[in-house]
Amino acid sequence: GLKRLAASELILERTNAPRTPPPSQSLVFGANFADHMLSIPWNSASGWAPPKIHPYAPLQLDPSAVIFHYAPSLFEGMKAYKDVNGKVRLFRPDMNMKRMNMSAARIALPTFDGEELTELIKKLVALDKAWIPSEPGHSLYIRPAMIGTEAALGVHPTKDALLFVISSPVGPYYKTGFKPVALEADPSKVRAWPGGTGHYKLGGNYAPGILPQMEAAKRGYQQNLWLFGEQELLTEVGTMNLMVVKKMADGGIELITPPLNGMILPGVTRDSILHIARDHVSGKHKLDSLPSKLTVSEREITMKEVVDASADGSLLEIFGAGTAAIVSPVDRIGYKGSDIHVPVTEGGSGPIAKAMLDRITDIQLGRVEHEWSVVF
Ligand code: COI
Repeated sequence: GLKRLAASELILERTNAPRTPPPSQSLVFGANFADHMLSIPWNSASGWAPPKIHPYAPLQLDPSAVIFHYAPSLFEGMKAYKDVNGKVRLFRPDMNMKRMNMSAARIALPTFDGEELTELIKKLVALDKAWIPSEPGHSLYIRPAMIGTEAALGVHPTKDALLFVISSPVGPYYKTGFKPVALEADPSKVRAWPGGTGHYKLGGNYAPGILPQMEAAKRGYQQNLWLFGEQELLTEVGTMNLMVVKKMADGGIELITPPLNGMILPGVTRDSILHIARDHVSGKHKLDSLPSKLTVSEREITMKEVVDASADGSLLEIFGAGTAAIVSPVDRIGYKGSDIHVPVTEGGSGPIAKAMLDRITDIQLGRVEHEWSVVF
């Protein structure tokens, strides 16, 4: 039968030319890579080959390889942290493994046992521990990816694939406090649609977002606010999930994020924020930093609702949520030729975004005990 992915079969080839990680202050997101990488080839006749950790190096692929033509490509983003005791931690790796398998199944790439890959990622990160910056807000960004590698121009399920993992030391997204971003809501460009693949983390979902971002930048906006349909539903912001905070008629606060309706990436940070907010509401884990009267809504929200809320003063916050930045406050939305202003009250953020950032980083760094933080 086909061989399963097995961490116990790991082949380890250490570098004989270890490099010195760059100074933490100079880090640019995704620009430096740790000494080692993990590679696991797959073939449809034999299954998963033994995993190999080896020196970081270019791939060699045939120009006819399907990845270059039909884009069988998926990726994940996760982070490893050094805690106050020098121990290494991952944040909710099970979520990334689950999503990676969903993405793989959707584009006819092979699936695998996520616990085995997590074991291998731990081995890779432990070997490159010197590459995990320990300054506050710093981490090792881990990039698992999978591509179809069969040398063939036929459009069919690839017979060969490569799962690989690289890692990159990164600094805090906001070095000197929050810097809120301005979004452009342009209904003419659509990121995802019902029946499409916007809810999978496929490489092919990202390239089409770059030109709209460039166009928004020309008009003075950093990111796109992705809308869908006649109702102009808000879906995502840039490459992040979207959160909206509104004041309700009864004086309570509503935290809104679009539902997982097939157009929304099931983000790990999105899910974490929902859990934190719901645990606060249920009393399982109350936070002083969150409002006492909070309603958590996974529901659709339209541009009309945002425009109306801005006009009547009930629009309190908008922020993006993702692994790279954790939260990204928004202060302005360009829409139909004018700007909607979003309050940023706490040094460039709103109070809910700030509370979520603090709680998530406390968990990631092991400042508080939580099952999401996996120590090894
Ligand atoms: C995120 O973490 O928010 C991302 O989507 C990662 C990005 C580099 C694609």
